[in-house]
Amino acid sequence: MKSILVTGGAGFIGSNYINYFLNKRDDYFIVNLDKLTYAGNLENLKPVENKKNYVFVKGDICNRELVEYIFERYNIKYVINFAAESHVDRSILGSAIFYQTNVIGTNVLLETARRYEVERFLQVSTDEVYGSLGATGLFTEQTPLSPNSPYSSSKAGADMMVQAFYHTYGMPVVTTRCSNNYGPLQFPEKLIPLMIINALNNKKLPVYGDGMNVRDWIYVIDHNIGIDLVFNDGKIGEVYNLGASNEMPNIEIVKLILSHLGKGEELIEYVKDRPGHDRRYAIDSSKIQKELGWKPQYTFDDAIANTVEWYLSNKEWWGRIISGEYQKYYSDQYSTRIKG
Ligand code: NAD
Ligand code: DAU
Repeated sequence: MKSILVTGGAGFIGSNYINYFLNKRDDYFIVNLDKLTYAGNLENLKPVENKKNYVFVKGDICNRELVEYIFERYNIKYVINFAAESHVDRSILGSAIFYQTNVIGTNVLLETARRYEVERFLQVSTDEVYGSLGATGLFTEQTPLSPNSPYSSSKAGADMMVQAFYHTYGMPVVTTRCSNNYGPLQFPEKLIPLMIINALNNKKLPVYGDGMNVRDWIYVIDHNIGIDLVFNDGKIGEVYNLGASNEMPNIEIVKLILSHLGKGEELIEYVKDRPGHDRRYAIDSSKIQKELGWKPQYTFDDAIANTVEWYLSNKEWWGRIISGEYQKYYSDQYSTRIKG
């Protein structure tokens, strides 16, 4: 059986990916290597934890000996690298761990993958590497990298390293760059789950700046279907953008969540802006649509309703999260932002 090393598989997108993948195929063995940072949660993987073609390894992608041991022990021939520090606000509070995991960790994986002659290395990247758009235009795969936050600069560094390993060593790499994801199992530091949970708890909803920054939202399952296509059929050395053409200003999303929950807009509180806040992201995904036949399967209206419903039905999942380390993060991030 072919073995895939999936890193960061206990996080939001990675756990959705493993659950989706193992539900439809049993011809691969998945090794999930995850450090279980604050964002990693083994509860996310309940549906697959007893499968014979799945194993979890707790560990750091920066740990060369461990990574090498895994390649040897499981005869790894494929890598999908989800593992990352992923939250922009945390990267502004402290950047070092972002460069450590996202850049050095990717280097450890690439070097080991090269030695073990993997057949495919998929780097899960982000549209944030392209920087910020003005009122018009879309990010294409040709848009120059121009990252603005510690998070996005660390991801851009990793992307460039992946391309360098292709050009220099002919490594069989592919890269995906996706826009903002939402859906079940997203850690409640990100906009959508944070707003749902605050509203359910009748807490203020902290909207940065004027609330008119635009993000291009995609349901996590659509992202993962795209990753799967690129993993199987993407052309070596190529980058594929993924996005569902669903641009929305933040304030609109926040108001929509309130209306889904039957809560009033008095909960909204405009707070001090994120430093270096990118104004607008929007993705041109025509390449993956034309070349690999991908297209989003979920409409925003249906998928946001599913997502709100999931958080309503899984209060224990997020209740455990927000009662722990989250409290300290919330206070560090938000106590000095409130205006006035
Ligand atoms: P997440 O923060 O929910 O999960 C990250 C996972 O990586 C966690 O399980 C964490 O424990 C693990 N991890 C962190 N450091 C590690 C290390 N050193 N070694 C091993 N495991 C480690 O993130 P996410 O939102 O699921 O994002 C997954 C990937 O997708 C990231 O690479 C991110 O840059 C990319 N991405 C995210 C989005 C989005 O909207 N969330 C969009 C595009 C791309
Ligand atoms: O575009 C893809 C990226 O999307 C991924 O690479 C990142 O991993 C992911 O975190 C996400 O980054 P953003 O910074 O766009 O997502 P976030 O959910 O943090 O914020 C979305 C928008 O909402 C952004 O304009 C900031 C704003 N915001 C966010 C929070 C947490 C608020 O106004 N208030 C908040 O409390």
